[in-house]
Amino acid sequence: MTESQPETNPSADTGKKSMDEIMALCKRRGFVYPASEIYGGINGFWDYGPLGSQLKKNLRDAWWHDVVMTGCRGKTGPDGNPVRVVPVDTCIIQNPKVWEASGHVGGFNDPMVDCRETKSRYRADHVKCMGEKGDSSGQIYAFIDGDDASFEGALKKLGKYKKKNLTRDEVDICPLTDLSVEELAITVGPDTKEVGTLTEPRAFNLMFKTYIGATATEDDIAYLRPETAQGIFIHFKNVVDTTRVAVPFGIAQTGKSFRNEVTPRNFTFRSREFEQMEIEFFCHPDEAGAWYEFWRDWRMQWWKDLGLEGENLILREHEKDELAHYAKEGAGTSDIEYRFPFTAPGYGELEGIADRTNFDLKQHQDHSKKKMEYHDTTRGEPLPNGQPKGEWYIPHVIEPSAGLDRGVLALLCEAYTPDPERPSKVYMKFHPRIAPIKAAIFPLVNKDGMPDKAMEIYRAVVQRVGAHGFVEYDPKQNIGKRYARMDEAGCPFCFTVDSETLTDGTVTVRDRDTLSQERIPAGDVPGYLAERLGLGS
Ligand code: GAP
Repeated sequence: MTESQPETNPSADTGKKSMDEIMALCKRRGFVYPASEIYGGINGFWDYGPLGSQLKKNLRDAWWHDVVMTGCRGKTGPDGNPVRVVPVDTCIIQNPKVWEASGHVGGFNDPMVDCRETKSRYRADHVKCMGEKGDSSGQIYAFIDGDDASFEGALKKLGKYKKKNLTRDEVDICPLTDLSVEELAITVGPDTKEVGTLTEPRAFNLMFKTYIGATATEDDIAYLRPETAQGIFIHFKNVVDTTRVAVPFGIAQTGKSFRNEVTPRNFTFRSREFEQMEIEFFCHPDEAGAWYEFWRDWRMQWWKDLGLEGENLILREHEKDELAHYAKEGAGTSDIEYRFPFTAPGYGELEGIADRTNFDLKQHQDHSKKKMEYHDTTRGEPLPNGQPKGEWYIPHVIEPSAGLDRGVLALLCEAYTPDPERPSKVYMKFHPRIAPIKAAIFPLVNKDGMPDKAMEIYRAVVQRVGAHGFVEYDPKQNIGKRYARMDEAGCPFCFTVDSETLTDGTVTVRDRDTLSQERIPAGDVPGYLAERLGLGS
């Protein structure tokens, strides 16, 4: 139920793209800010600035359009029919019985270890331990998996204890969860000098608790949802009874989820408040395999189409021992994974596609005593009148569950393109469909009638593409600085009005990626742009 730790390697060469530099650009250009920053921040929470919110909206809108509005962009499903997906928008807080039925109250746990000295708390499965090779009696040094500084710190402390310089090749590494109680007692925590400050790992429930009403007693406890999926399952029957959908069909939802992660980290990758985009696709049990393959392949292609191409994106089928509690033997589960700078050369999960069988609907049927069976009138033996007898069954569910914030993070990392030749030294190569700023209109100088002409073009462009992202009008600073700002913001096209515009009516178009410039008639700008944004000419 909880996702696994991204595959990391402390010794990996992560030099290609620096996460620190990406985070700095995100702050500088208003993509992402630390939440509550003026009060020192709050661990595991991030806010989006103007460009970040629009980028996130564009990604959510692309998902909504492609999944809900157009049924996988008009694709035919394995049953030969168009894919049907309808939306719901359910509450973050539900009756706590929902989470008892789903297994989250009893089982949504991560192993946690505390440091008695520093009061730090770690995910036990994120902590690794090192000791000198061949030495089973010496102290053990703990470090955070995937954190180079923490690894180097432990290596240095071990070297000091052994009174010699040690290299990575001279140490044995194992997960903290493999240590015995005796070994834990001689372990030095990731941020201590003393031995034996770490507690034994214990289960920690990730659900955020709150109270409903004024009395705040045990009876008033409620939970913030840890996934949007359960809001879909509990309304399966309502959707079937109140709309004309028929199995196979999907219900989709986007929205905030909350997990009290033990060690939130890696920027927005593991946050305590995040947004999901989830589809629960209901089908006949015999068709689950075909629908699983359909969704797995289509979702992979979807991320590719947004620019996450090449070796940075992989599809990984789960091993048998990774299968979730609801997954039956042979039922598929796979992850779409992205190679983030902090996981490289490993990968971190972006989206999971799981055959959840009929586990969730059955759980809710058992706990609520409300029937979740579906009457399929297209199946069953033919009656004497030639019509099928019908079949009752609890549908199986294929779940493509994507993280919106992780998607945004992957798009930010993918777009970040260092280029020493440019004044900005870096540009954001967003796919035009998700770029937060679609176009910028500049008068070359802030006089000679150029601002008026530029403003006229700006108004026409906003009219044509403004529903899909920002259009900037900027008359200030020299043109090189304005291009540099737009490169860092990832704006795909800049249109400049100059003295020629006033005589022949043309403007220059600067292409962010190729840096090429061409002249086009000013009146063609909206159409030129719409065509390149995939909105028709
Ligand atoms: N309903 C199934 C479910 O929630 P999950 O693998 O736990 O499955 C789905 O979560 C997606 O939600 C993940 O692939 C990831 O993109 C995103 N996600 C999960 N935990 C997250 C966290 N703490 N911070 C940001 N995104 C998270």
